[in-house]
Amino acid sequence: MSEQSFLDVRGLCVSYGRSQVLFDVSIAAHRRGAVAVLGRNGAGKTTLLRTIVGELEARSGSITLGARDIMRMPTERRIRMGLGYVPQEHSVFGRLSVSENLAVGALSSPDPSPVDRVLTMFPELGQRLGQPAGTLSGGERKMLAIGRALLSNPKLLLLDEPTEGMWVGVIEEIAERLQELVKEIAIVIVEQHLELALDVADYAYVLDRGRVALEGRPSAVRNDSQLLQLLAP
Ligand SMILES: Nc1ncnc2c1ncn2[C@@H]1O[C@H](COP(=O)(O)OP(=O)(O)O)[C@@H](O)[C@H]1O
Ligand SMILES: [Mg+2]
Repeated sequence: MSEQSFLDVRGLCVSYGRSQVLFDVSIAAHRRGAVAVLGRNGAGKTTLLRTIVGELEARSGSITLGARDIMRMPTERRIRMGLGYVPQEHSVFGRLSVSENLAVGALSSPDPSPVDRVLTMFPELGQRLGQPAGTLSGGERKMLAIGRALLSNPKLLLLDEPTEGMWVGVIEEIAERLQELVKEIAIVIVEQHLELALDVADYAYVLDRGRVALEGRPSAVRNDSQLLQLLAP
């Protein structure tokens, strides 16, 4: 997956202090569709997304978005260039209401009615506009975080474990909505829920202790004899 990739991450090495966490990681994403990043806890998935968005600096490697080198750009410039990021934790302002959280996200939007679009996608939120985000269920909070990230009209959305802590019914709903979304934009999704990830994604990478240990089309990854061992705790 290298020709005309929209996002191209090559040979990324990232450390926290002296401890190296990512080793020569390369991933790519096209303009539409989803790419899944799998791997057990501690494999380096969050570190990879944080490096792509610019919260962490890579020691070496390259990151290009739409053929532009973004490696040295500050996070806010990467976001202006079309990156959206939904972090694994603390992705909403708990004390602000649902509508206030959305208003914060809409500040950077050029579109006149972006909030309506988000409420059409996640009608649950429309019923809770005045409720403090901290009192939402885990699933609703993730929907709010995704909705808020969409308000800046990202071309590529980085999603870190969007279904963490959700029950299976909500996971299916989120999967359906992501399948709609990937008709318009690109998504890099980090996900523990293997079936969701492989259903939504066109391509998957499995990290093992900071290295890409397996990659391919979901059908091939699903049937790979190494997969269960790579995901086992
Ligand atoms: N801020 C940090 N400082 C030092 N080490 C960290 C930090 N964040 C994560 N790590 C370590 O980096 C490794 C990868 O973590 P992470 O990227 O969060 O993995 P994952 O998201 O796949 O669970 C783990 O060993 C973790 O302990
Ligand atoms: Mg993580």
